[in-house]
Order: sequence, then C-alpha cells, then structure tokens
Amino acid sequence: MLRLLTAGESHGKLLLAVLDGFPAGLTIDTAPINRELERRQGGYGRGGRQKLETDVVDIQTGVWQGTTLGSPVTLAVVNSDYKLERLKDLERPRPGHGDLTGAIKYLGSIRGVLERASARETAVRVAAGALCKQLLAEFGIAVFGYVTQLEQIATQPREGTLDELKTLRDASPMYTLDPDADKQIVARVDQATEQGDTLGGLVEVKVFHPPFGLGSHAQWDCKLDGLLAQSVMSIQAIKGVEIGLGFEAARRPGSQVHDEIAFDPSQTADPTLGYVRRTNNAGGLEAGMTNGQSIVVRAAMKPISTLRKPLASINLATKEPESAAYERSDVCALAACSVIVENVVAFTMAQAFLEKFGGDSLTEMKARYDLFQQLAQQR
Ligand SMILES: Cc1cc2nc3c(=O)[nH]c(=O)nc-3n(C[C@H](O)[C@H](O)[C@H](O)COP(=O)(O)O)c2cc1C
Repeated sequence: MLRLLTAGESHGKLLLAVLDGFPAGLTIDTAPINRELERRQGGYGRGGRQKLETDVVDIQTGVWQGTTLGSPVTLAVVNSDYKLERLKDLERPRPGHGDLTGAIKYLGSIRGVLERASARETAVRVAAGALCKQLLAEFGIAVFGYVTQLEQIATQPREGTLDELKTLRDASPMYTLDPDADKQIVARVDQATEQGDTLGGLVEVKVFHPPFGLGSHAQWDCKLDGLLAQSVMSIQAIKGVEIGLGFEAARRPGSQVHDEIAFDPSQTADPTLGYVRRTNNAGGLEAGMTNGQSIVVRAAMKPISTLRKPLASINLATKEPESAAYERSDVCALAACSVIVENVVAFTMAQAFLEKFGGDSLTEMKARYDLFQQLAQQR
C-alpha cells in the first residue's frame, strides 16, 4: 500500500514528505521533480514570497545509487526564508482561513494553525506526486494539468498530442491552453491586484492511458472516483471536484451522458484492449474503476482569503471589530493550483496502480501488469 504523510510549517525549517510503500527498482531523476516545484512557484498573480524561494528537492532516504530500495522515500524541501521563531502571532483572524476555528480548536495561537494550514505544504505533495509520475511513466501513463477558467473567463478546449498541449501550457502565464484567453486573464489579475482583491478559477487534470480496472466497485473506500475526489478536495482552497461531465451530467438525459461502447480489434494491444468510446463523459471512471479511457478531473479553487483590502473581522484580544490581518499573499495562485492538482492526482493514481499491480519491485509490477493485459485480452 502506498501511503503519504507530510510535515512542516510554512515558515519553518523545512517541509518533508514520507512516501511509504514505493516499490524498489525505479531509477529516479530529480530534475523533473525540481521542474514541477519550479512550476508550482510560478504563474501570474503570485505574491512576493515565491520570488524569494527556489524550491529544490532533497531525497534523504529510500534511494541507493539513484534507485529506489522499497523502503520509505523521504523528500525534503528546505525553506530558504526560515523565520518561524521570529514571527509574531496574528490577532485578527482572516475570513476564509482556519485562523479563528484553529485558534479555538487548539486553544492556542492563530500562527500555530496558519503555518500548517498554508498551501506551502503542497511543495512536498508536488515532489511526491512528481516521483509517482516517474513510476506511472514506466507503464505509459501520463498526468497533465492546466487551468481552464479564471473567475468568469473561460478558455477554449484544445485537442492535440501531449507534447503539443505541454508546449501551449508552458508558454502560458496562467498555465492555460488558450493564448487568446490569456490576455484577458492577465488583465483581470492586474485589475484585482490594483483593487486589493483576489481571484480563483477552475483547473483540469487528464490521466492518459490508464489500464482497465484500477480502483474497485466492491467497497466504498476503494472506489477510485471517491479517492481522487478526496485527495483533490484536500488541497488548500479547493471547494469542488468533478469527474468527467460532473455537475453537467445532472442537467442532461441519459442518452446524452453515457459513453456508448464499440470494439475495434486493431487496437487490442493498447490499454483500452480495443474497446472504444466516441465520447468520454464518464471521465474514464465507471463504478469506481478505470474503464480504459483517459481520466478527467476538474477542480474549483476559491479566491485567496488574505486580501490586501482586508475583510471585516474581530480582534481576538479585545473582541472589537477590526479589519482582518494582512500577510504578504498571492492575488491568484490558480496556475500553481493546477500543478498541485496534477501531482496529487498522480499520487492517487500510483496508489491505485500499486493496489492492483503492486509488488515489492518494479520488475514484479511489470510482470503482473503484462499478465493482466494478456488475460484481459481473452475476456
Ligand atoms: C497554490 C496555493 C497558494 C495559496 N496562497 C495563498 C496565499 O498567498 N494567501 C492566502 O491567504 N491563501 C492562500 N492559499 C489558500 C489557503 O491556503 C487556504 O484557503 C486556507 O488554507 C484555508 O483552507 P481552505 O480554503 O481549503 O478552507 C493558497 C492556496 C493554494 C492552493
């Protein structure tokens, strides 16, 4: 079983992820992990902090001579602006943050809650997910995330090869696939910055070439749609998760929702086993299991809670009305959010993959995967 725990405070010494149950025998490359960390720090609308730090992963355990051992893999990202011990507490809780509730729950400080609630934690979730992508790539599976909408500005959907889509996304200031919408998006972020306001939006992640049968219909907590929703919803500021058509499915009759099944024997070798669908409204998941189509996950990010023009709050010491506290903050972290969702989905896919084809080593996994593909072709 693949498990992930993270530790660390936003302005603490470092962030840590422990990835337990990762198979032996994968030769890993830290460069793509660092690229993902860099992408997480980028995007239009970020605050000053991102410019101070350049995140770099340090893999501290579980690897020998560049290859995983099957023992827990510890990934560390050091905070170059460590200053937690010098930071003061906040007195005026920010609406939309855990400040008020956390201080009451722990009978303690706001600082003690915000330091851990902060999305800085996602640096190591991204590092762990980026490592999982290297495992998935051994089986031809790719995970790709991008922004589809900022506030009211929707982008146009794009088709193309993964390389074409990556080129488009990586040239976009907001990690979209639509250069025309980018102009409007940048202008809207500039306007919100001037107004002291913040913005959210939608991100989409696709998982290409998953095999049949990841996840399970048999028990509620093994359903892969549920597991993906949980892991994506756990990301800071995510307030909605959809799979495939999502909420739109509720607005259509069944004849315009379900993906009709056809068979094309010329494609039996690929993960679809020759079963083809003209549509993918299910987003690659039926009854909690992958159905050989691409997985499509969409997530809604709320606007950042810390506003330069702060909202109304209370001074916890005096109980008098005052404006909420302001700490250096992002105006829009939607681009970063697409990177986080991508890598969190990669972790959950690797977890599901190991559940089905798991073994102690990559070699054993490959043997199991090949055997299943052979057997499934006879069905
Ligand atoms: C990439 C990213 C960056 C974020 N940056 C900030 C920020 O600079 N300031 C802020 O107040 N909230 C920021 N947030 C959102 C808060 O972390 C989040 O709203 C808060 O922890 C409360 O959790 P909740 O929104 O899930 O309820 C960010 C979220 C993400 C995903």
